[in-house]
Formats: sequence, C-alpha cells, structure tokens
Amino acid sequence: MEYLDMVVNEILRMFPIAVRIDRFCKKDVEIHGVSIPKGTTVAVPISVLHRDPQLWPEPEEFHPERFSKKNKDSINPYIYLPFGAGPRNCIGMRFAIMNMKLAVVRVLQNFSFKPCKETQVSSSFCIVFY
Ligand code: HEM
Repeated sequence: MEYLDMVVNEILRMFPIAVRIDRFCKKDVEIHGVSIPKGTTVAVPISVLHRDPQLWPEPEEFHPERFSKKNKDSINPYIYLPFGAGPRNCIGMRFAIMNMKLAVVRVLQNFSFKPCKETQVSSSFCIVFY
C-alpha cells in the first residue's frame, strides 16, 4: 500500500486538519538571530508552510510522488507538520493514518469513482486564522 501512503500524505499536505499549532515560550531564547522573549506565544502556520512555493514545487497541485520512497527523505520534518512535531506531537498519529487508509480501502473495495460534468476541480482551501 505504498501509493496509498503517498496519497494520504499528500492529502494532509494540501488539507491539514490542524492548520496551525502554537508553542508558548518559557524562557528568553534566540533562534537563528530572532529573539523570542519569555511569555511569547509562537504560532506555526502549518497550512501556509504546506503550500509555500519556495518549499514545494507547484504547491497547489496534487502530487503524491512528493512522498515517494525516493523523495520523502528530502522533506524537512519541520515544514511538513500534519501531526505537529516534537515531544507534544499527535499521540494518535499512527492510529489516525491507519484508519484513514482503512476507510479508503473499504470504500474503494465497494465503489468506483469518476468525475462527471458537475465535478468541481479545485484545490482552494480556507485560511481561517490568517
Ligand atoms: C488525521 C487525524 C489527526 C490529525 C491531523 C491530528 C493532528 C494533531 C496535531 C497537529 C496535534 C498538535 C501536535 C503539536 O502541537 O505538535 C495533535 C495533538 C494531539 N492529538 Fe491528534 N490528530 C489526529 C488524530 C488524532 C487521534 C485519532 C487521536 C487519539 C486517538 C489524537 C490525539 C491527540 C492528542 C492526545 C494530542 C495532544 C498531544 C500532546 O499535547 O502531548 N489525534 N494532533
């Protein structure tokens, strides 16, 4: 199910469920020349990072091949963040991915899909928080 894994990853890139995560700064720090004072809330805009054209070629296009065995090691884990990162990342990540795959498999075992003339082809998404 290698290709299904690539598809699920690409769906979560284009349509991340958590569009933003926050971190609260507990002490004064400087990271790459940027000072972050204690008490600051730092927002990480996942949905924006996932569609930044400087980070992803043709970000509005659906290309599961970005996540192929050959390509996926070159993806920076702090740029692709559907489940967050670090010690407080999503505890249900593996469970969620397995369920998404099972749902797709069950649907495709019973139905087939094809576009019709009313099908709207759009990759637009809603930036709620920015
Ligand atoms: C596609 C489905 C899911 C997505 C996209 C998702 C995404 C996320 C994200 C972005 C975070 C914040 C991580 C961070 O701040 O670095 C998070 C946290 C969390 N998620 Fe999920 N999640 C999903 C499903 C689930 C499921 C199925 C469970 C439980 C069975 C779960 C339990 C949690 C918990 C407990 C946290 C808080 C972890 C902590 O603060 O230590 N999530 N999730």
